[in-house]
Formats: sequence, C-alpha cells, structure tokens
Amino acid sequence: DAERETLKARIKTLMKQQDAVLVAHYYTSADLQDLAEETGGCVSDSLEMARFGHAHPAKTLIVAGVKFMGETAKILNPEKRVIMPDLGAECSLDLACPADEFTAFCDAHPDRVSVVYANTSAAVKARADWVVTSGIAAKIVKYLHQQGHKLLWAPDRHLGDYVQRITGADMLLWQGSCVVHEAFKAEALKKLRTEHPDAAVLVHPESPEAVIALADVVGSTTQLIEAVRTLPNPEFIVATDNGIFHKMHAAAPGKILLEAPTAGEGATCTSCAHCPWMAMNGLRKLVAVLENGGNEIHIEESIRARARLSIQKMLDFAA
Ligand code: 13P
Ligand code: SF4
Repeated sequence: DAERETLKARIKTLMKQQDAVLVAHYYTSADLQDLAEETGGCVSDSLEMARFGHAHPAKTLIVAGVKFMGETAKILNPEKRVIMPDLGAECSLDLACPADEFTAFCDAHPDRVSVVYANTSAAVKARADWVVTSGIAAKIVKYLHQQGHKLLWAPDRHLGDYVQRITGADMLLWQGSCVVHEAFKAEALKKLRTEHPDAAVLVHPESPEAVIALADVVGSTTQLIEAVRTLPNPEFIVATDNGIFHKMHAAAPGKILLEAPTAGEGATCTSCAHCPWMAMNGLRKLVAVLENGGNEIHIEESIRARARLSIQKMLDFAA
C-alpha cells in the first residue's frame, strides 16, 4: 500500500546517502526481502548472509534478521558500521547458551573439539574451535570426525543429534532448541502427508528427530528453497518458519506450498511457525534507525578477534 511504498522510497534514499547495503534473512517480512533485492543487497541463509556482507564494499551493513547475524557481520567486518532494525531480536538458541556456561562445558571436556552453531553470541564463538551454519554443519562435522576428533556441540540439540546420526561422529550435545522448529509435530505431519501423497516434505534440521524422519529433504533455508525450485513435485509440505514462503513462491510460482503442522492430533496451525524475533524487523524501525542512528553492533575487540578465527575456518572450508 501507499505507506509501505513511501517508507521503502525513504529507506532507499537514506541507504544511498549512507552507503548502506541490506542483507536480510528469509524469515523476515516480504517487504524487507524485496527491499534487499531491489537495492542490490541479498536475501539468504545465515552462511550466505555472512559471505555476502563480507564481500560487499558498502560502508554500512544493515542486517535484517536476529542478533547473532548482526554480530557475525561485525565480527567479519570491524571497519564497517553494522546496524539492525531492532537489537532486541534474539534467538532461543543463543539465549539458551550463556558464554560462562559454555566455557565451563568446554573446560570439562578438554579432549574434545568444540563446534558451535552460528546461532550463538560472539563470546561463545570466541571460545569455540569451529562455527557452523545448518547449511554446512554435516560436512564440517564429517571432516572433523574423519580426522579422528571427538566433538562437543552447542547449542541446538536437534541439529546436533541429526548431524551425529548422519556422520557417526562422537558428539556431546548441549540441550538448546529453537522455539519455532521444536513446535512441528510428527503425527500431524504424517496425516497431512497421507492427504497429499504427491507432496515432498521439506524439513529444517532444527526440527525434532521424528519430524526429520519424515523428510524427503533436510537442509538449510537456502537448500529448502532450492528443493522447491528443482524437485518435480507439484506440492510441498514445509517444516520451517513460514517467512520462507515468500521466496519459495517466487522460486516456483505454480507449486502448492503447505505449512507443516505445529499442533497435535491432525490440527494445523497457520500462524505458529514464525519466529517472534525475526518478526521484530520492519520498515518503520529501519527508517527510524537510518534517520536517528543507533542500533549499531559493537563487540569487544579481544572477543571479536577470537570469534573471527572460528568463523573464518567455516568460510574457508565452504570456499
Ligand atoms: P539457516 O542458516 O538455515 O538460514 O538457519 C538460520 C535459522 O535461524 C534457522 O532457524
Ligand atoms: Fe533462532 Fe529459531 Fe528464530 Fe531461527 S527461527 S532465529 S533458530 S529462534
């Protein structure tokens, strides 16, 4: 509508003036995703967000997503101004893994290589040996396993468990979980799949084991969008945040996309599968930040420098 278009036009002007580029996650609003693409930025999964922001020459990086994504951008680009529409956009995985408790966990198992999910604070990344995102977790763990290492993993127990199952690595798991993915229900998903026999089931690996067991494809957000684009199925049942449907519809316009159920006993829930922290990002907040300043990410240099080493290992591995 008219207000949204006015806001978008204002943001575009301010972004030019401030030499800014917008990097947005697939779970943010359709407006922010469109704006990122219209202004030469990117919409992607956590791994590609980190890579894109690092490679882009803009002086200001606007990260639309959750705090760890902004922190990762700052860790990799200390010379750039990194801002977010709302610095209160957390993540239940990050919140479940305080740096002091994680440090104690590592100290208790000095024989193990520590691998943490990107959904963690800068301080946790600084203590870890490796950082991984969902798109590359299994490959890196497989490599470390083949090198003969025993591992310690934090914070997502479902992703950790999944990676352990497919790689056979010896992993001690932290017990965090994602509030969005944890809500998907296997029994109701089975029923929905029976009603839609031609549908492929796409599952993000932060989901519970019983849900992953029903998947035709398990992958990061980018990998799930790729599946919608390339698989021949006319329908898809999607177990991840429903913000992803915007890009999935664009990638495969004729296909039918169904939300995986988040309530038990065959009941479906049409609004549960959305991250409350991703939803804190919006056009109005972005205008306010660009007009008034603030919401800048700052990270203490000794933490930043150490966190960078573990993120850089992942980027080098992915390259
Ligand atoms: P991706 O790296 O797959 O985009 O996942 C990020 C995330 O927070 C999923 O909940
Ligand atoms: Fe964190 Fe889950 Fe939200 Fe992703 S969807 S940012 S893992 S709470």
